[in-house]
Amino acid sequence: MNVPFLDLKIQYQSIKEEITPAIQKVIESASFVLGDAVANFENGFKREHNVRHCFGVSSGTDGNHMALWGLGIGGGDEVIIPANTFIATAWGATLCGATPVFVDCDVESYTIDPKKVEERITPRTKAIVAVHLYGQPADMDPLKDIARDHNLFLVEDCAQSHVAEYMGKRVGGLSHASSFSFYPGKNLGAYGEAGAVATNDDALARKFKMMRDHGAEHKYDHEIHGHNYRMEGIQGAVLGVKLNHLADWTDARRRHAQRYNMLLKDLPLLTTPKEAPYAKHVYHLYVIRTLHRDRLQKHLQANGIGSGLHYPVPLHLQKVFANLGYKKGDFPVTEQLANECLSLPMFPELTGEQIEFVCESVRGFFD
Ligand SMILES: Cc1ncc(COP(=O)(O)O)c(C=O)c1O
Repeated sequence: MNVPFLDLKIQYQSIKEEITPAIQKVIESASFVLGDAVANFENGFKREHNVRHCFGVSSGTDGNHMALWGLGIGGGDEVIIPANTFIATAWGATLCGATPVFVDCDVESYTIDPKKVEERITPRTKAIVAVHLYGQPADMDPLKDIARDHNLFLVEDCAQSHVAEYMGKRVGGLSHASSFSFYPGKNLGAYGEAGAVATNDDALARKFKMMRDHGAEHKYDHEIHGHNYRMEGIQGAVLGVKLNHLADWTDARRRHAQRYNMLLKDLPLLTTPKEAPYAKHVYHLYVIRTLHRDRLQKHLQANGIGSGLHYPVPLHLQKVFANLGYKKGDFPVTEQLANECLSLPMFPELTGEQIEFVCESVRGFFD
């Protein structure tokens, strides 16, 4: 049996009848950039996340940048970011001219460790970015307290966590500003590049709206700095259709994670992911840990099973950040994860037989 790490084709087959007319409508109305399809999606998406404002943008990376830029982060500022995340979180800061300051992650949740944040704050610190990594929300309450006590902005990177919940509340509206990615493989994925920013702050929302369209509310009347961060109409149409299925797909991911947990429990050399007590995890990724990761990955590959590494080189050890002066050993939990983590196949359409096959293969390796 072959079990891919991710299968987007199978999902398309299940929604083809809805997708085709939605795309056709955009083409026939020539609303290729923003337009009704994007506006309708934004309305649905903000309702789902219980947040006042949402703007469709060109990618999650652009959303990371816009969120910080809109908050006024600039040259000379520092932004606290978990070392365990995808590099796009850090680009949000560097594209503003700010310096990312890395922090280790928690050994159970794999998200930023709030206990390690305060020691990294300096007079130049302006913001903390909490990443809801793998679909698990970061521990927001202690981060909110730290941000309030030190007069910092708190920002959420929700690229991997659509409709995840912290203490019963959806992510995206739990901070000053948030960003989402709709890269095709995400829990809610476009058919190309796309992202969003969200906020509950009316003044910031006005700024976001202008920034994504050259800093102008009215054509050729450029009030503030901006860029072209507009979402394409076709992506809005695809996302609008897919949003109606997101609840079912999220339930399926959570069921698959439970099944994996059950079938992989009691393996002494393997750690399964833990849903934090405050969290509704949406399992963008199902990440296990083992000291024998590289050999296990090869074994799975030989059995026709795809897997992934998220992330094999932590941000503080990336060449591009060598000038920041970090070294091996600075963030032991992140470094341990980088050496031990392995993401098993996870997508809503995964079948029970496929999960059993993956787990048998994992068990076979350890036997
Ligand atoms: C945590 C995180 N932030 C930001 C991004 C960037 O999103 P995009 O690929 O849409 O630019 C990603 C995408 O992989 C991500 O995983």
